[in-house]
Amino acid sequence: MDPMNIYADPRTENVRADFTIDQNWEAFTDEEHGTWDILYKRQMQCLPGRACDEFLVGCKALDLGGGGIPDFAKLNVELKKLTGWTVVAVPCLVPDNVFFEHLANRRFPAGNFIRKRDQLDYIQEPDVFHDVFGHVPMLTDRVFADYMEAYGKGGLRAGGFDRLKALASLYWYTVEFGLINTPKGMRIYGAGIVSSHQESIYSLEARSPNRIHFDLERVMRTDYRIDDFQQTYFVNASFKELFRATVDTDFAPLYERLNPCFDFTPTAALETDRIYTRGTQEYGRAGGRKMDIKPV
Ligand code: PHE
Ligand code: FE
Repeated sequence: MDPMNIYADPRTENVRADFTIDQNWEAFTDEEHGTWDILYKRQMQCLPGRACDEFLVGCKALDLGGGGIPDFAKLNVELKKLTGWTVVAVPCLVPDNVFFEHLANRRFPAGNFIRKRDQLDYIQEPDVFHDVFGHVPMLTDRVFADYMEAYGKGGLRAGGFDRLKALASLYWYTVEFGLINTPKGMRIYGAGIVSSHQESIYSLEARSPNRIHFDLERVMRTDYRIDDFQQTYFVNASFKELFRATVDTDFAPLYERLNPCFDFTPTAALETDRIYTRGTQEYGRAGGRKMDIKPV
């Protein structure tokens, strides 16, 4: 394949202007459906008690374990009924503005391929397992569904401010790697975590990462790593809290204040951070003891 010519890639034939393609569900092989089943089963053994209730309820409601890669036409009937969202197939990562436009219209773009059997633990480009198993269950939750739409609209608006990196950081630390501190304990909701077997355990149980209470500006000033487990997770008390801090806040003055580069590294712990210590319900200031649970 000529890397300079995306149209030489069979995956990008018949791409529409909004980057969507037909899912062409019939074209997935038995082996590919089997890959989904292996990944689904493994996550379902590890996520009860780790993923938040909203995620687990969403998985059930959408019947994601019905066998094989979900057929979007069927999945969308249920999803649309619940919150008005749909899933659309795309061949690859799409440009920022195309992505924002889809989210703003309650469409979630999902990569139309699945990882190979020797990539069960990690792939760089998001596949249908990450995109559908990771992201779509949370879209059945009313508050989170509204947050995602608002994020898309916010992205379209942010174009004028030249601070898209800061907005990307918010996405990273919430939608992809967010934790939530529920009355039952610390839980996962980020798609990058729930779709990774190892990080599902590491994010909650490892000693090394910082778990810091969500602060909008702190998050948007923080760089992130895309090629390793996170060294920092941000924790919300509830999805309503996340919603209020983002959707109900005008980002324009914030964009004006932010520097063009990130101020904090992915490993930073600041004096002002509220870091979770001792179990999962309390936080203290930096320098306090980290969560006292067994390391992995
Ligand atoms: N409230 C943000 C703005 O004023 C939009 C937004 C909402 C961004 C939710 C991200 C998440 O631009
Ligand atoms: Fe993702």
